[in-house]
Amino acid sequence: MAKAKTAYVCADCGAEHSKWQGQCVECGAWNTLSEFVVQPAQKSMGAARQSGYAGVTNGVARVTPLTDVLVTAELRTLTGIGELDRVLGGGLVDGSVVLIGGDPGIGKSTLLLQMLGKIGEKLPSVYVTGEESLAQVAARAQRLDLPLQPLHALAETGIERILDQVAASRPRVLVIDSIQTIWTDLLTAAPGSVSQVRESAAKLTRFAKETGTSVFLVGHVTKEGGIAGPRVLEHMVDAVLYFEGESGSRFRVLRAFKNRFGAVNELGVFAMSEKGLREVPNPSAIFLSAHSGPTSGSAVMVTREGTRPLLVEVQALVDQSSLGNPRRVALGLEQNRLAMLLAVLHRHGGVAAYDQDVFVNVVGGIRVQETAADLPVLLAVLSSLRDRPLPEKTIAFGEVGLSGEIRPVPNGEERMKEAAHHGFRRAIVPKANAPKKGSVGEMEVIGVERLAQAIDACR
Ligand code: TYD
Ligand code: MG
Repeated sequence: MAKAKTAYVCADCGAEHSKWQGQCVECGAWNTLSEFVVQPAQKSMGAARQSGYAGVTNGVARVTPLTDVLVTAELRTLTGIGELDRVLGGGLVDGSVVLIGGDPGIGKSTLLLQMLGKIGEKLPSVYVTGEESLAQVAARAQRLDLPLQPLHALAETGIERILDQVAASRPRVLVIDSIQTIWTDLLTAAPGSVSQVRESAAKLTRFAKETGTSVFLVGHVTKEGGIAGPRVLEHMVDAVLYFEGESGSRFRVLRAFKNRFGAVNELGVFAMSEKGLREVPNPSAIFLSAHSGPTSGSAVMVTREGTRPLLVEVQALVDQSSLGNPRRVALGLEQNRLAMLLAVLHRHGGVAAYDQDVFVNVVGGIRVQETAADLPVLLAVLSSLRDRPLPEKTIAFGEVGLSGEIRPVPNGEERMKEAAHHGFRRAIVPKANAPKKGSVGEMEVIGVERLAQAIDACR
């Protein structure tokens, strides 16, 4: 086989250079070149090309009507951890590559080791660790009360040696913890650098597709919130799952960010314990904090992330600002959305916050992406600004438009039922979501069309 060459590619414009230099000749960006391996063209055809699949004749791809294509259902295996299966879209697909990202210490290694303890009973598996010794892995498995017999581990960071080893032991599930520690002999760049991470992941992806082995890659998250190394990793894999949670809270949320085999934004919820992660199959009310009485600046929303409604508390603190440019801080929500909502509150609610610092936080470290959070966020801000609690046992949801209208959100009825089930007495929701009879179970439902009506409903 011809020897692989290295090239230097600009991360901004993709231009290729034969030597490293500080500035990209094409786009003029500084410090964007990193080293990549250029694989020599393969002389022999790939296995799929020779195998006479529909659409391939004598190794040449042809245009084919899809009716002639043989569709094989993807093979899935249940991992034995229901919440993980849910996020994966109903089990682990053979030959898929799943990237699990999250802050250090959030529980990625624990989750995957627990998974191998379960799935290892059914399928041979290997846990490759680049961060711990085998003794540490064994001690962790013991502490988690996992059966040791199905667990096989390898402490190695060189991708070539890892692939040699797994080629011999032929696992069906492979965990790489973490991709940032893995490096290839082909590159001189340091482990953890963009090019090393990318090249190692590319080799592992190829291995997964060729052998049908399911591969999990653990990736640490950078300060900016992306998976360290490159966004390119996210394009190379079949699914990207993020493990989130506040360090102070015992709940952890696994979220699908991309999934070729299932819905995105599906949530899996876990609770941390001495014996590792426990599943929380019915998590709807865990993101409420237990206040002893009514508190200003707090509103409860019903968000629907994935396929389940969740009751989540959002808290706001609005305080006189001493800065010329008051602060707008949103944790668990999008910052720009908060700025927009405050503008709507001023223009259409007649409530000004331009001289106030505004902090908004979603309780429990969960991230809410849907627009149904708009109305509860504004109600929490208003409640803090006026230092007056919202009426007790009240929930809200609804999208707020730029002209002050409250727009309906999907699955309104399901959200209200869940809130009524948890003993809430009052719901402030978009008019189009409200039932005609004005109640759901015991809960009174107030349908609003304009922001001003929602503000009135909170008096
Ligand atoms: P770990 O799985 O090592 O995190 P990561 O791989 O994401 O860096 O977990 C961090 C620490 O928390 C570790 O010391 C074990 C502990 N832990 C528990 O005690 N119980 C749990 O349920 C979890 C998830 C972690
Ligand atoms: Mg770890």
